[in-house]
Amino acid sequence: MLKKTTVKTIEKMYNNGEKIAVLTAYDYSTAKYIDEAGADIILVGDSLANVALGYNSTQQVGMTEMLIFTGAVARGAHRAFVIGDMPFMSYNVSIEEGVRNCGDMLRAGANAVKIEGCNDYILSLIKRLTDAGIPVLGHLGFTPQSINTLGGYAVQGKTEDTLEKMLEQARALEKAGVFAIVLEMVPEEGGKYITENINIPTIGIGAGKYCSGQVMVSDDMLGKFSDYQPKFVRRYADIKTVVLDSVKEYCADVKSGDYPSADEVFKLEEKEKSKLNVGS
Ligand code: KIV
Repeated sequence: MLKKTTVKTIEKMYNNGEKIAVLTAYDYSTAKYIDEAGADIILVGDSLANVALGYNSTQQVGMTEMLIFTGAVARGAHRAFVIGDMPFMSYNVSIEEGVRNCGDMLRAGANAVKIEGCNDYILSLIKRLTDAGIPVLGHLGFTPQSINTLGGYAVQGKTEDTLEKMLEQARALEKAGVFAIVLEMVPEEGGKYITENINIPTIGIGAGKYCSGQVMVSDDMLGKFSDYQPKFVRRYADIKTVVLDSVKEYCADVKSGDYPSADEVFKLEEKEKSKLNVGS
């Protein structure tokens, strides 16, 4: 019997100094394999806007899509802890709407939600969510939903004062009740500084090796998404080439008549066949 990962398992891993392996997934089959292969956490990231839906910004995905994809992933993940990423503006309009949308994410099958940023409003929302029994993963550093106010896709916390501000925010998130914090695109020394000065795990993506765990977009690490490749991505497979080669071979087999073969068709019984004027 597989033991489901919980916030308590994650806390124990952190206390034992065991690194936490996190990957994104957006569909049932991929989630099933990532779960079977041993990832601790599966994040249904709003990165699905780019890698699964072909939008050019995460701001273009909403609750309707996130709930569908989260349900699919949750059905495939028997052991891994599943986190639903709260999409742009699904939690920013009011605390009530945010709590309701996060509740829907858990109803779809997530075990927790991820919320970007830190300000007084976000801290109040996190308190309400954790009081309501909804675990929250924070997200600091580069927060893609704020790309327009951040002024573009860029490493965050490049100076002592911006890192001090990030640490202040990390501590506030910890106090508000998040169980861990994603640090995205932060210099490695900054990732270390924050990790060493808070008491909950940090999950890095482009934030260096000192974070308590790492997260990567599965389509990036599997070589499936190829529109662009961030510096921090390590490629473990080349799914794009597997798909291209397989599809080329399939098309050639169809056009040459090699597919389907005798083993790949259904046949009439002889007595039925004899009634029809068809050959072999
Ligand atoms: O949407 C996403 O995939 C994310 C992670 C990469 C942190 O937010």
